[in-house]
Amino acid sequence: HITMNATSRLFAAAAFSVLAACSEGGQTPRSSSLRSEPVAPVAAARVDDPELVELGRKLYFDPRLSKSGFISCNSCHNLSMGGSDNLKSSIGHNWSKGPINAPTVLNSSMNLAQFWDGRAKDLQEQAGGPIANPGEMAFTHKLAVDMLLSIPAYVDEFREVFGAEGIDIKKVTKAIAAFEETLVTPGSRFDFWLKGDDRALSAEELEGYQLFKSSGCTACHNGPLFGGNSYQKMGVIEPYSAKSPAEGRSAVTGRDADRFNFKVPTLRNVELTYPYFHDGEAETLTEAVEVMGRIQLGRTYSESDNRKIVAFLKTLTGKQPEIMLPLLPPSSDSTPRPTP
Ligand code: HEM
Ligand code: HEM
Repeated sequence: HITMNATSRLFAAAAFSVLAACSEGGQTPRSSSLRSEPVAPVAAARVDDPELVELGRKLYFDPRLSKSGFISCNSCHNLSMGGSDNLKSSIGHNWSKGPINAPTVLNSSMNLAQFWDGRAKDLQEQAGGPIANPGEMAFTHKLAVDMLLSIPAYVDEFREVFGAEGIDIKKVTKAIAAFEETLVTPGSRFDFWLKGDDRALSAEELEGYQLFKSSGCTACHNGPLFGGNSYQKMGVIEPYSAKSPAEGRSAVTGRDADRFNFKVPTLRNVELTYPYFHDGEAETLTEAVEVMGRIQLGRTYSESDNRKIVAFLKTLTGKQPEIMLPLLPPSSDSTPRPTP
């Protein structure tokens, strides 16, 4: 048992270093000088504690952290689909429809805070939310911990990873957050271009990027994430009639001035994370670009300009993390049974 654990952890460590090496290498840029742009490439993940990451990977995929025994983090942040669920709003416990679109977990460690309104300061604080949210996993932190404590292989793994007996919600969320920190997507074609490879973008994509900058999109979508670093009003020039009751940042600050300010979403991997906006109302990138141009900047793009911007946005799709499905330890006789 101990040997198996040790072997699987060694294997995990090796797998992660291989992955990290791959994402660092890839295509060699033709010149190593970084172009000076209001954006920056995504860096490969640095894994300091592969055993913690491996435990987090198990927890991320374990549906027993939900009341129904059916919903895991991956149900709504599907790593086969850009870390999102591609639904207007997620389906949670008992088929409940949430009020808001699920953002991607990819590169989320670089956000200034978590959630559309930034109510969680970091990934660890965020991870406690969905487990206990009645419309998502509908569990309690105590039940989640009791479930893990009833499974001997989890008890052993937590002891080995944390070097002390016991499981609590802080350890659970710390492990999940450590796993999420590895979910970064370097190696997009745009990043190769940024690093000096002129051939990485087509003429149309490059024109799209120039339009993106010259029309002012980078005022809000900038930095390594093309977003994720500020809250901005949705509907600067024209009001946006949202199909969601969410009010944005004012829910956290209580300030009227923050009403309808949302965290600017990252545009990394945006090709994969449809539908768009906090209410998921824009089904296509064409539509999202049209709305952004009109209500944020007061611009109406021609069909061909819109197409160029969309072509550029698709160059932001990075190398997706290659995640092996974890093998989860079986429940024991004393594991609380799932309930509807
Ligand atoms: C938001 C991770 C479970 C639906 C987020 C964010 C992260 C995350 C990091 C914030 C991303 C950002 O703001 O850019 C996780 C983890 C989970 C989990 C680690 C498991 C413990 C779920 C489940 C659902 C779900 C099961 C669907 C039933 C959502 C929604 C949001 C969100 C709708 C946006 C909520 C808001 O901003 O108010 N999640 N999630 N998540 N997640 Fe999850
Ligand atoms: C959302 C592109 C300009 C702030 C988005 C989304 C896209 C996009 C594709 C949806 C992302 C998603 O839901 O995952 C663009 C383009 C722009 C532009 C192409 C230039 C035409 C701006 C500007 C601002 C801004 C100038 C700030 C004044 C936001 C905000 C959201 C967003 C706050 C989230 C809105 C919500 O969901 O309610 N943008 N954007 N954008 N963008 Fe932009």
